[in-house]
Amino acid sequence: MKEQFEQIKKDFLIALDEVKDTLMLEELEQRFFSRRSGEMTTVMKNLKDLSNDARKEFGQFANVVKKELQGMISERSEELKGQALAELEKKETIDVTQPAIPAEKIGHMHPMSIINKELEELFTSMGFMVLDGPELESDYYAFETLNIPSHHPARESMDTFYVKDNPHWVMRPHTSPVQVRAMHKYGAPLRTVVPGRCFRNEATDGNHEHTFYQMEGLIIDKDLSISNLIGIMKGLLEGILKKEVEVRLRPGHFPFVEPGFELDMKCFVCGGDGCSACKHSGWVEIIPCGLVHPHVIKAGGLDPEVWGGFAFGLGSMRLVMQRYGIEDIRHFMSGDMRFLNQF
Ligand code: DAH
Repeated sequence: MKEQFEQIKKDFLIALDEVKDTLMLEELEQRFFSRRSGEMTTVMKNLKDLSNDARKEFGQFANVVKKELQGMISERSEELKGQALAELEKKETIDVTQPAIPAEKIGHMHPMSIINKELEELFTSMGFMVLDGPELESDYYAFETLNIPSHHPARESMDTFYVKDNPHWVMRPHTSPVQVRAMHKYGAPLRTVVPGRCFRNEATDGNHEHTFYQMEGLIIDKDLSISNLIGIMKGLLEGILKKEVEVRLRPGHFPFVEPGFELDMKCFVCGGDGCSACKHSGWVEIIPCGLVHPHVIKAGGLDPEVWGGFAFGLGSMRLVMQRYGIEDIRHFMSGDMRFLNQF
């Protein structure tokens, strides 16, 4: 038995000497240690046929040899890796003295990215954190924590993409799930905005896309009032549109706010006369908002007796349309260079 192991070791050392690259090393490892037919493995399997004492003795010996050989494989592997890197370094040196090739075309930001960046700057200057949330969201955060249980009709108004065969996951139809995520993570007081992509199974038209951007905003604090909310919303719109805007507040219903509002702005594209961007009404529904419902604050792990909040869900693509006078939301993802080159 011992001789067998000695022989294997000899063969191994000869083979190892011939190894020139990682592929050969892998082959070597397979030859000796493959689970099914490795030379070492096979001899070790035979140990079970020995008497107890002999098994103990040879077993220990076998393990020592095995460890030794495997140690050599790791060592060689490190060596080979080092060599490969050194070669790469030689091959891929960069000649920094070469003159630069002039760029033929320089890209630029997409209009949605421009506005998102400006929004982030505006809000960080007011002490808000910018957060992110998952696009593939759990039913729990997307609906349950927002006071929208499974039978609730609000689910139907957000034609959600569910994941096949798993009703627990959805492509988020809004950015609101981040409200509770943020409360869980950061507690109170809290000021955050969350720009992000949302998805709905919508028939598309000039005003609706299946994939669109929102920016969720959430403030959790004590003694908040609706006039704070209106002030911030107006500041936001004027900060981006760089002109005074006219807004109006209508009652709106969303299960996660109470009371809830629709904040509309006078259409910037047509000046209020009516166009396709404002559905010919002169006003654009731009920021649904409201005071955070106590159930949601509770779901966020906070005491609604102590903490209040307000939240808004800015339709940020609509804001881009207003700023640049874009009349059809479908341009955004058309990939049409005639559209994109204008920004
Ligand atoms: N999540 C809502 C939607 O997509 C929009 C919304 C309404 C967000 C009111 C809010 C809010 O934060 O307070 O339809």
